[in-house]
Amino acid sequence: MDEKDLSLKLEVIVAEAIQRLSKLNNTEELEKWRIQYFGRKGIFASMTSQIPSMPVEMKPQAGALINSAKRKLTEAFEERKKNLLTLQDKKTEFNLNFGLPGLKPETGSLHPVTLVSREIVRIFQGLGFGVHTGPEIETDFYNFEALNMPADHPARDMWDTFYLDSERKFLLRTHTSPVQIRVMEKISVPLRIIAIGKTFRRDDFDASHSPVFHQVEGLMVGPDITFSNLKAVLIFFLKELFGTRVKVNFLPSYFPFTEPSAEISISCVICEGKGCQTCGFTGWLEILGAGMVHPEVFRKSGIQQNNVTGFAFGAGLERIAMIKYGIDDIRQFYTGDMRFLKQFG
Ligand code: PHE
Repeated sequence: MDEKDLSLKLEVIVAEAIQRLSKLNNTEELEKWRIQYFGRKGIFASMTSQIPSMPVEMKPQAGALINSAKRKLTEAFEERKKNLLTLQDKKTEFNLNFGLPGLKPETGSLHPVTLVSREIVRIFQGLGFGVHTGPEIETDFYNFEALNMPADHPARDMWDTFYLDSERKFLLRTHTSPVQIRVMEKISVPLRIIAIGKTFRRDDFDASHSPVFHQVEGLMVGPDITFSNLKAVLIFFLKELFGTRVKVNFLPSYFPFTEPSAEISISCVICEGKGCQTCGFTGWLEILGAGMVHPEVFRKSGIQQNNVTGFAFGAGLERIAMIKYGIDDIRQFYTGDMRFLKQFG
């Protein structure tokens, strides 16, 4: 075989290979083709292995011819591979089943704290109470000082506080009671309002504590408002919220901003007062702090009329929701878990 024969033979091989290549329809066939020509025992390997036995003067030419044939086929192979892949992409595109039902986005539901807060607003609006809000970032004055807790007052320890600056002037409100002051500064007596919002305490995060939670505050101020008015309003409120069968208990307590102060419990909604795990076998569930507005609080809020008195109360919304819906861990409220949230809306 001389150079010419070799060149002719390679031409035929290349032409035939390209023709076959154009008929291949998937990557497996393509791979078989590649092995047939370029594999270890392929056509090119066997031709290259013949070079050593060729006449000396033909060797360089033979090598060059084989290499050029290989180059042509490599190019053709890559081209075909590319075309096949785009073709396959197109195919899967057209294989899409447009009749399949789509993925349904999960619909949310109202959060139990939202439900309870709406219910409370409804009840108090029915009694003529206005709904107010106040800032979550408060000053020492509104959160403590104006509520009859001057600097270093020991009662400040009742609230573990997140301070925002080293001078301890700004803080995250530890309760909604500062809204009492803001409202009394702004609107004139007589007044009756509630305020609902977030409150913050440096508490542990456990089954019954959260560093962020919600409170409802109530305030009624006018000529000769009495403790009887407080009792009437709160008993009505609690029976609306938990049902008329619920019993309400008033116990003496202490808050710096009310005098006298009371802690209010309802008969356990689980055992109806018989005693169970939920009420710690006492038959009662503590639900509200309340009392008659302290004269010092009126003074700090700029209210000076002599016969003006008032009552205030505060309660945690999570606690109310836990009792109302039988939830035993406050952390459930903040997981965003739809399986939990969907049970209430
Ligand atoms: N602010 C009190 C607390 O967070 C609750 C309260 C409000 C008590 C109003 C009396 C009157 O514990």
